[in-house]
Amino acid sequence: MKTYQLQSRLFFLFFSLLCVQIAHANEVITPLPVNADYDKAKAAVGKVLFFDPILSRDRSISCSSCHNLTSGGGDNRNVSIGIDGLKGNIQSPTVLNARYNFRQFWNGRAETLLEQASGPIHNPMEMGLNSQEVEKRINASQKYQKLFSNYHHGYISYAMILEAIVEFEKALVTPNSKFDRYLRGEIQLSTQEYTGYQTFKSLGCITCHNGINIGGNSFQKMGMIKPYIHTNNYPDLYSVTQKDYHKNVFKVPTLRNIALSAPYFHDASAKTLKEAITIMSNLNLGYTISEQQIKDLLAFLHTLTGETPVILN
Ligand code: HEC
Ligand code: HEC
Repeated sequence: MKTYQLQSRLFFLFFSLLCVQIAHANEVITPLPVNADYDKAKAAVGKVLFFDPILSRDRSISCSSCHNLTSGGGDNRNVSIGIDGLKGNIQSPTVLNARYNFRQFWNGRAETLLEQASGPIHNPMEMGLNSQEVEKRINASQKYQKLFSNYHHGYISYAMILEAIVEFEKALVTPNSKFDRYLRGEIQLSTQEYTGYQTFKSLGCITCHNGINIGGNSFQKMGMIKPYIHTNNYPDLYSVTQKDYHKNVFKVPTLRNIALSAPYFHDASAKTLKEAITIMSNLNLGYTISEQQIKDLLAFLHTLTGETPVILN
């Protein structure tokens, strides 16, 4: 091959890579699927389990006690409250669209929803029940014998119980938000919503909050530019890795349905979305933003509220 041919090929290769990059950069946020896949029979059982306090030691707390599916998927408290009124040490994140997070928990210590689900059940501060006791209770229940019999006969193992919960969680997708419909070219945003989206991009919010969950796909520092001061010890990534540079590093939370899930941040230190936006731009980007920019961003963030998952109707 002649040198100029090689050069032009290399140039072409470089150019194509650049195009892919540019195309990708235009679509760093992608819409949620309208019909997300999940096993309907198993999810139906998981739905009953999710709302059932049978999974907690004193039969007082269910998953839904801390994850209110009709108001944002968290619990709107500063820290969640488990059995015996015990207070946890971190804000309850949303379970809506959690299937699209690259890891689970604020510090990502669970790789999958399946791995995550055992956490709260065993946690002495949350539901406080071991797997043998869970199996015993579910197998002794006529209701669950009947529910599981739609796809399984015989002994119900702990693994099958978790599996049903996970299938239900996979159904907790909130499609057709105004912004998703805009991304699919079905509708226009209002001028203010559109300006807010441009602001979200130009300030750099989108460098951390992107992808299908507008977050949930990387670990980042809270206080990237200016240090975030807090007094308590929270389970940040440092608590998992013991590496100094992981102090105050968390999984970037999803911004889907964000208007519904106050208070904000792992420690619930921002009570309103306005406060959260102001702190974010200041500490993570180094900007003091104007009232107008705040209003525009708020208008954009409100377009991220999706529909109630079909399984809840
Ligand atoms: C007592 C309150 C409480 C109960 C009960 C509870 N959770 Fe949670 N949940 C939390 C808190 C708090 C976190 C965040 C903990 C952390 O990150 O360290 C969380 C995190 C999660 C996450 C991870 C979400 C994310 O974005 O990282 C999922 C999924 C979840 N819970 C599902 C469940 C399921 C399923 C149940 C029932 C089996 C359940 N939870 C019961 C409070 C609770
Ligand atoms: C360097 C990465 C990064 C940038 C840039 C960034 N964020 Fe965040 N964002 C995070 C992290 C990490 C958290 C979780 C912080 C915590 O809980 O302590 C977060 C939390 C939030 C929350 C609260 C979510 C919740 O569920 O509590 C909102 C709202 C938010 N960001 C909006 C924005 C906006 C708007 C911008 C642009 C002005 C922005 N973020 C820029 C990483 C980033």
